[in-house]
Amino acid sequence: MNTKRPYYITTPIYYPSDKLHIGHAYCTVATDAMARYKRLQGYDVMFLTGTDEHGQKIETKAAAAGVTPQQFVDKIVTGPKGILDLWKLMNISNDRFIRTTDDYHVAAVQKIFKAMYDKGDIYKGKYVGKYCKDCEAFWTDSQLVDGKCPDCGREVQDAEEEAYFFRLSKYADRVQHLLEDTDFLEPRSRVHEMVNNFIKPGLEDLCVSRTSFTWGIPVDFDPGHVVYVWVDALFNYTTALGFLNGRYHDYDRYWPADVHFVGKEIVRFHSIIWPAMLMSMDMPLPKKVYGHGWLLMGGGKMSKSKGNVVDPYILAEMFGVDALRFFLLRTFPFGSDGNFSNEALINTINVDLANDLGNLLSRTVSMVDKYFGGTLPAQQAADAEKDAELTEMISALRGRYEAEMEKFAFQNALAEVFKVVSRANKYIDENAPWVLARDAQNAPRLACVMYNLLEALRVSAILLTPFMPQSSDEILRQIGACEDCRTWDSAGVCGALRRDVTVVRGGNLFPRIDADKALADLDAAAEAARKAELPALETEPLSAETVDFDTFCKSDFRAVKVKDCQPVKKSDKLLRFTLDDGSGTDRQILSGIAKWYKPEDLVGKTLVAIVNLPPRKMMGLQSCGMLISAVHTEKGEEVLHLIMVSDDIPAGAKLC
Ligand code: ME8
Repeated sequence: MNTKRPYYITTPIYYPSDKLHIGHAYCTVATDAMARYKRLQGYDVMFLTGTDEHGQKIETKAAAAGVTPQQFVDKIVTGPKGILDLWKLMNISNDRFIRTTDDYHVAAVQKIFKAMYDKGDIYKGKYVGKYCKDCEAFWTDSQLVDGKCPDCGREVQDAEEEAYFFRLSKYADRVQHLLEDTDFLEPRSRVHEMVNNFIKPGLEDLCVSRTSFTWGIPVDFDPGHVVYVWVDALFNYTTALGFLNGRYHDYDRYWPADVHFVGKEIVRFHSIIWPAMLMSMDMPLPKKVYGHGWLLMGGGKMSKSKGNVVDPYILAEMFGVDALRFFLLRTFPFGSDGNFSNEALINTINVDLANDLGNLLSRTVSMVDKYFGGTLPAQQAADAEKDAELTEMISALRGRYEAEMEKFAFQNALAEVFKVVSRANKYIDENAPWVLARDAQNAPRLACVMYNLLEALRVSAILLTPFMPQSSDEILRQIGACEDCRTWDSAGVCGALRRDVTVVRGGNLFPRIDADKALADLDAAAEAARKAELPALETEPLSAETVDFDTFCKSDFRAVKVKDCQPVKKSDKLLRFTLDDGSGTDRQILSGIAKWYKPEDLVGKTLVAIVNLPPRKMMGLQSCGMLISAVHTEKGEEVLHLIMVSDDIPAGAKLC
């Protein structure tokens, strides 16, 4: 029998519609840190994430890509660099992964829909209103902001169709009480937003079926209707535990969830619609919904169009997964928005990880190595006055950290750890081990100083494990921490390491980053990734416009021989050609092809020119005609080939 206390935590399930950026990873990294923290504390954790695969948005995108919706989502979820790969890269320790296209989920949602219908909470009516395709959300006219979707600001469409409705209005009072009188929804600021913007103006019944598209879970008792994607999506939190299906069997153990982490724009669905539907189903409510802020870029919403510098693959490869995870949770308060920048990321790595933590580790381990051959003597001399502040901070750290973690205040929890790291660095300077080492009589004192430093590292590393699992393990390995002194219990005391501990020197965990070089490398990597995604070869579509024969015949194309070719001063594009066009007088043509040809390589070649264009001046030089080239695009780069014909063709021969 499992005697551990259960803890159930979830992320939102992601739309497999666009490439995920670092903003998407934010919530999953936070959930992972929380799940690892709870495991460290000894809980039996169920950490669920997954993908939300139905809806009109996916259907439309799949059609545009010329594939079926299932093929479309399969590629983004399970394909290379897809969602599953991303979570592997970010070292996400989810226990389960749900896809809303999984059979067991589909069948369970049909049963849930029917149960609410049988109860009278879902009824058939007619929907007249607005629909935002991007947010998959219905709105009334009064909810629109400047006639647009209040969530994403995009255009909405008129929608009118026969549909099923959920009696959301029936649950308005109970939901308001839940929000106002309990700590169901956090941070508290989001409660006012929900109550004032959505409940007080009057909760209307919610349209929960659609007939205008088919990519959804069919309402099994009324063909043609598919279940509204949010009803389908929200119940994932319970079907993934086995609710109304036989695939899993842990509903009784883990439901209700301890916390749903969700982004602020989907708090409305999780704190109003979700509890109301659970009330309808007579199911227990989740204990908490936490609405986190957004990672912004330059003050605006993050998106792929803002460049690949937010591509987690590129960032993880350049800076390491742990540093990236750490940065996300160390830098931004979880409940508020934060401005992501690569400069801030590099700065955090350099200040916290390279200077503070990395230095403390490498200095401490190398001093133990240098002064004691790697193993501390058991005989050690404490100095109450000099040691008290550091050792008390170490002993108190776990409690302070826990208090912040329980509030999901990751930034503050990490700040507590780094106070101890900084204090330990200062302790090195105060105790000047290099001075103590000059006299063998000081060995017990020197050993005690080293021991206290190792303890600071040990407790810090344990508490950093949820954020930087691999690096923390490596710190614990280098300081020689045994299994028993890597536990949550042992993190609550200063003095768990063996006195005669043996350290293991290792590589530099967090090398300092040269910001200018890293930013340039990032741009180059982003550009390379952008190009890699471009089609290999593109040609301009054939012209649909016709040209009449007589007009075409007016164009005078001639074979011309290159007598001379020179670059044009102050222009990096133009070449100046002196051509024999068979007329006996040299013809000058300027052509913007310097990027593709060296002038000397063209002398003597036979080219094709149109010779009856009106003369034009470029860079102060006359150009009489135009050389003909073939142009196409390769990986986004324009490629040009001058049309060269056989040298047997005499200058001035007409092309027709
Ligand atoms: O909303 N910063 O899916 P989704 C922080 N399928 N978080 C961000 C972010 C950013 N820049 N961009 C996106 C959905 N997110 C639904 C959920 S749950 C039953 C259904 C977060 O893929 C966003 O706030 O659009 C949301 O919590 C999550 O990524 C998934 O977004």
